[in-house]
Amino acid sequence: MLHGKHILLVISGGIAAYKAQTLIRLIQKAGGTVQAILTKSAAEFVSPLTVAALSGKPALTELFDLTQETEIGHIELSRSADLIVAAPATANLLAKLAHGLADDLASTCLLATDTPIMTAPAMNVRMWEAAATRRNMATLRENGVIVVGPDEGEMACGEYGPGRMAEPEAILAAIETHFEGAPKPLAGRYVIVTSGPTREPIDPVRYISNASSGKQGTAIAEALAALGAKVSFITGPAEYANPQGCDIVRVTAAREMDAAVEKALPADVAVFCAAVADWHVANPAQTKIKKEAFEDPPPLNFAPNPDILKRISTLESGRPDLVIGFAAETGDLEARAARKFAAKGCDWLLANDVSTHHGVFGGNGTDIVFFDSNGHERWGAMTKTAVAQKLAQKVAAHFR
Ligand code: PMT
Repeated sequence: MLHGKHILLVISGGIAAYKAQTLIRLIQKAGGTVQAILTKSAAEFVSPLTVAALSGKPALTELFDLTQETEIGHIELSRSADLIVAAPATANLLAKLAHGLADDLASTCLLATDTPIMTAPAMNVRMWEAAATRRNMATLRENGVIVVGPDEGEMACGEYGPGRMAEPEAILAAIETHFEGAPKPLAGRYVIVTSGPTREPIDPVRYISNASSGKQGTAIAEALAALGAKVSFITGPAEYANPQGCDIVRVTAAREMDAAVEKALPADVAVFCAAVADWHVANPAQTKIKKEAFEDPPPLNFAPNPDILKRISTLESGRPDLVIGFAAETGDLEARAARKFAAKGCDWLLANDVSTHHGVFGGNGTDIVFFDSNGHERWGAMTKTAVAQKLAQKVAAHFR
């Protein structure tokens, strides 16, 4: 049953659009509410007025509808839903979603959301079997998009094969399964995530640190926990350090983080997102260093910190099945990250350019180059939440 669940239904243009009307009724009968968005071509197949009458809410079509933007806004529209269902989802809509294109209200809402997305593809059999569509579907599945159907059968164009939209009853069943909490792909897996900066004391009141906010580590911990993993979140003193559904271990200096990671082992996966200081002050003062005690600035001697990622990656016994590192570089990203990937011995590496003008430290977005044993790929500019979800889906795929 769908009591209390709000579905954002994206109807794109195809002959199957008429079935979306049945889907609206089925969702309502199951106790859910529906807000519909029609693409421009969907409005050629079904009338926005009929959809509005069925759903009891205006059927939305335009991205720049000022009333809508003032009252709700497309971002809020997609985020306030418990699930976004694109049915029918045309080849065009799926391609836009796979490539992150947003040029109308439907594609913008699909891109601007953390809400789970379900699609019911509907298209001609040749379009469904085209290499480009297959690539797009693989990307969408990897990004965690739920795909229902398509069914095989005779098509409106007279051809036979897969491409018909799944029946509204089957889509409703998939929606109900989604909310019933189908088995989560990382249930039973235990993951360690490090996050935030470390602080290396100079004296009791001064320290050396960096600007990591903990946003990326927190997003990763939450995305893994949402897929059912038990997460031990080991964090330095960060602004964002409270991931939902995770066990939190708070540390200060790199050597404490190393000890906490050691204590948290054994684990199936370890993700090292923390910005760990490479050195600590070898002789921190026990009392506040007094300006009057020195003619020149006081000398600081440094000693190396343990390289936690490298140590765990190269463990001879008890190594997590999957060790994932980050690389924070300022320039020459791919070449430097490739060297770091080889030197650390981890399985995957997410490299980002943290030069100040990119605003990665503390910001909401980043631009990842992902390394694994097959080489590397650019993920492109994304929010940290999207990076976390993509990574969590990859981890889940690794254990399937
Ligand atoms: O916290 P945010 O504001 O959201 O910012 C996110 C981030 C920029 C911190 C994140 O995207 C990121 O890049 N994290 C890695 C930061 C870092 O220290 O990178 P590095 O290239 O110096 O280190 C490489 C890897 O070794 C990292 O996985 C790091 O956690 C690990 N390391 C480094 C040194 C050390 N002594 N021990 C380690 O485990």
